[in-house]
Amino acid sequence: MTRHIHVIGIGAGDPEYVTVAAIEALNRTQVFFAMDKGPAKSDLVGLRRAICDRYIRGPGYRFVELPDPRRAKDAEYREAVSDWHAARARIWATAIAAELGPDGVGAFLAWGDPSLYDSTLRILDAVTAEIDISYDVIPGITAIQALTARHRIPLNDVGEPVLITTGRQLRDRELSGSAVVMLDSECSFRPCPPETRIWWGAYLGTDAELLVAGTVGEVGERIAALRADARARHGWIMDIYLLRFRGVV
Ligand SMILES: C[S@@+](CC[C@H](N)C(=O)[O-])C[C@H]1O[C@@H](n2cnc3c(N)ncnc32)[C@H](O)[C@@H]1O
Repeated sequence: MTRHIHVIGIGAGDPEYVTVAAIEALNRTQVFFAMDKGPAKSDLVGLRRAICDRYIRGPGYRFVELPDPRRAKDAEYREAVSDWHAARARIWATAIAAELGPDGVGAFLAWGDPSLYDSTLRILDAVTAEIDISYDVIPGITAIQALTARHRIPLNDVGEPVLITTGRQLRDRELSGSAVVMLDSECSFRPCPPETRIWWGAYLGTDAELLVAGTVGEVGERIAALRADARARHGWIMDIYLLRFRGVV
């Protein structure tokens, strides 16, 4: 008898992005472990609960909120992240042992897909050193797929590579082909040559969705203003964009 954990990708916003495989896994789950934080917390928790209400056929499941340890601010970034993951792994192992019976089934709901800028799988790997569990991964629709679908564009140019990166990394790189930029709070597209094409989306798949497309020269400042305004109104923002470069930038 082993406790089992599903890591379920729930898609990046629209409840209709939840796959049939995810719905089956939701229905096998007894305990959902949740660890949202930050200003978007109540909206994201609400969305997760709405997904469970909509797709789970019977009663009898419950949510367990996990405390989130603080991340050291002054340590070197990678070291701070690895200490933080270890602290989370200990908390998760204790909660799984306490909340699930010896053959119980639990789940973590990962926004979008768990493989993309998400720490759940790294932490669960560390949890296996502390407690005997098995786990599987149910893939989900990422924010990248939501962005390309809403703008009705291919991700890559013909025969060209695509870089998936963060705002911080974008600022320090030579770029060619296409780049998807996530986790960017500083509109890092601004220094790109004005002819660079940009497809931007915020709150994709939700009622608050915003979409803008054009070149950085034409629409860059409009995106920055729209982003600042939306962030102030909602108290948080999730946005993503695809850049297409001509030659090496
Ligand atoms: C921590 S990452 C998680 C990505 C997620 N695992 C996925 O598969 O899309 C969060 C970033 O994803 C992007 N993102 C996620 N959901 C989004 C949405 N609905 N609209 C726009 N961007 C989104 C934003 O760049 C945000 O900063």
